[in-house]
Amino acid sequence: MADVAPIQLIRTPEALAAIRDELGDCTRCKLHGLGRRQIVFGVGHPSADIMFVGEAPGADEDVQGIPFVGRAGQLLTKMIEAMGLRRDEVYIANVLKCRPPNNRDPQPDEVESCEPFLFKQIASVQPKVIIALGAFAARALLKTMDPISRMRGRVYEYRGAKLIPTFHPSFLLRSPGYKREAWEDLKTALGVLGRQPPSLPAPSSSQD
Ligand code: URA
Repeated sequence: MADVAPIQLIRTPEALAAIRDELGDCTRCKLHGLGRRQIVFGVGHPSADIMFVGEAPGADEDVQGIPFVGRAGQLLTKMIEAMGLRRDEVYIANVLKCRPPNNRDPQPDEVESCEPFLFKQIASVQPKVIIALGAFAARALLKTMDPISRMRGRVYEYRGAKLIPTFHPSFLLRSPGYKREAWEDLKTALGVLGRQPPSLPAPSSSQD
């Protein structure tokens, strides 16, 4: 499998469509037989400067075929808007494209089968910043078992981008006190792009 699309296709909707076509109705790992309804490929701008990478689709994403559309997704949308961006200006994908049964943790063989497609998405979109949402995504991308508390607050070189680990929105829903640290990470991402956050208050520590 070639890892990158032909140069003239990179950063276009066609390049992403070609990767989606290659994925097909994937049976490369066992998740296709474990109750997933559909593949959740990714959504957003084909040449976004910022790419968010989560863990795997949940129940709502499995129904709608779009990443981050459930409660955690609604919080992610607010985080994106707090950065002065719209969802359609960024690219959003997951390490796994299929929902694990009962939202269990992805397993190593599933990551191994699926991650080449995320790598191709990264190679196509060529984001300047990748924001890894939560310990699972950050560990899977960086191939480490470090706790998220050690990874966040740092900027990593990754596949031609700056990778910034932060807390997963699901965790922030359970532990809203950590939103302030997540906001620092989002401001770091904006800083890498030479952008300022809009003069809005930082996301509150409420359950919203
Ligand atoms: N959690 C994730 O990691 N990804 C989604 O798409 C939804 C919830």
